Amino acid sequence: INLGIFFGGPSVEHEVSVITAQQAIAQLQKLDDYHIVPIYIAKDSHWYTGDYLLNVEHFRDLKAVVANATRVNMVKSEKCALLINDPIRHFGQNIIAEVDIAFPMIHGTGGEDGTLQGLLEHMAIPYVGCNVLAASMTMDKVASKLFLQTSGIRVVEGEWFYAHHWIAYSDQVLNDIEQKLTYPMIVKPADIGSSVGIKTAKNRRELTNAINFARQFTTRILVERMLSDMREINISVLGDCEQLVLSVCEEPLTASEILTYEDKYMSEGGSKGMSASKRQIPATLHPNTLKEIQKMSAEAFIALDCAGVVRIDFMIEKSTGLPYINEFNTVPGSLAFYLWEATGVTFLEMLQKAIDAAYR
Ligand code: DAL
Ligand code: MG
Repeated sequence: INLGIFFGGPSVEHEVSVITAQQAIAQLQKLDDYHIVPIYIAKDSHWYTGDYLLNVEHFRDLKAVVANATRVNMVKSEKCALLINDPIRHFGQNIIAEVDIAFPMIHGTGGEDGTLQGLLEHMAIPYVGCNVLAASMTMDKVASKLFLQTSGIRVVEGEWFYAHHWIAYSDQVLNDIEQKLTYPMIVKPADIGSSVGIKTAKNRRELTNAINFARQFTTRILVERMLSDMREINISVLGDCEQLVLSVCEEPLTASEILTYEDKYMSEGGSKGMSASKRQIPATLHPNTLKEIQKMSAEAFIALDCAGVVRIDFMIEKSTGLPYINEFNTVPGSLAFYLWEATGVTFLEMLQKAIDAAYR
């Protein structure tokens, strides 16, 4: 089986994706069942393949990667997708590799948001992880919030609006928000991951600044009540809606109010990716809170029709003890292998289960 591993991508999480993919490839190479076909999507969206991509050290120099790999495009053939180079001159003659099943390991825009999944649908090859709708819904903070709310799953109260509406009716928007939510608030672009464009606001002036900041990144803006005293708890769900398993919980430990991009990926050991961040595994939780988080995770995973390996990030408000679903990562950093190892499922077993779910 030719397993195409897609990584890199156009988002700010490009480097994180390289690490995630290289960690997974190192595991999958232990199995004889799969022939690994690395597919690196450069920041300019050009695609590359070749053995040069199988060494993480090579990614210290992205120019060398592009120079030493083979530029390809993907086309559909009878039974699989083909990677070919120079499709215009050599159509059908210059087959570089075949892909029987795809494993998207691109974080954020262009990989985790349904767009790559849509392309794979057109190629009619099975792929690991969420389908188009689940990937795009979970990536969108407004769509997922509204959907979870109607499914009866607890999310933090929020208001959303279009950036163009804000520009035309700022005062009205501020009044509406202040009527429904209390300070402090947190302002987020609806559709950008990795904490990009997020700011907190303690008053109207800060709220205005935060909205003006967020609108540089997106057309839709979400404002939420900020849980002033909260713990972040993450859990991973593996499988599909018919057959899923839950990991232990982790508590990421960080000094700042919200996890910034730097906290997540650049801090101590950043080059090792998510697995090197400071975290407590398993998180210390009241048994009832743990049960509620597990129940909410399974319900949310099923409600959104997720598949593969997903990490769901919760916030627990300390004053009430209530857990809220904050966000989904349908291509989590390092594929959350550290949560699975702590649960007693090896990285390789987890990958195998995620791949198996693609065939069900
Ligand atoms: N989006 C990153 C990779 C994560 O939260 O895991
Ligand atoms: Mg995330």
